[in-house]
Amino acid sequence: MMRMIQLTFLCFISMLFSSAAWASDVAQGKHIFQNVCIHCHGMGGEHKFAPDLTGIGQRRDVTWLDTWLKGPGKLLKHDRYAQALLGKNKYGIHMPQIPSMKDDDKRASVIKYLLAEF
Ligand code: HEC
Repeated sequence: MMRMIQLTFLCFISMLFSSAAWASDVAQGKHIFQNVCIHCHGMGGEHKFAPDLTGIGQRRDVTWLDTWLKGPGKLLKHDRYAQALLGKNKYGIHMPQIPSMKDDDKRASVIKYLLAEF
């Protein structure tokens, strides 16, 4: 019985930690977004030089987002969605390869933020 209680307690603690880790990742992602991405994408419809990212989690999956953020060039070679994005670009500017997005952790945190908030 004691063991059961200990196990339940352990599960509870690890759940708390993983949701805290998720929240801190989202916070880091938000920080990056508001320093870098927002200049082009804006928030909630007030996009400036790039598409509105509202609902991006429904349009694209994590793998696509990860590849895109690493460097759009790779997707543009073969991915129709990416090619179509460029086709309908009316901004006169393209999504650059963003140096901080080479970092796996930073990229993951931005993706979590996009999925959580957009
Ligand atoms: C210099 C402007 C600029 C910056 C900075 C920028 N983007 Fe973009 N982004 C674009 C443009 C323009 C497109 C449309 C595709 C194209 O023409 O390159 C795009 C497309 C996208 C898409 C696909 C949108 C869709 O509707 O499918 C995502 C996701 C995205 N950007 C995320 C980000 C994130 C996250 C950041 C910050 C790490 C960022 N972008 C920074 C200009 C920018």
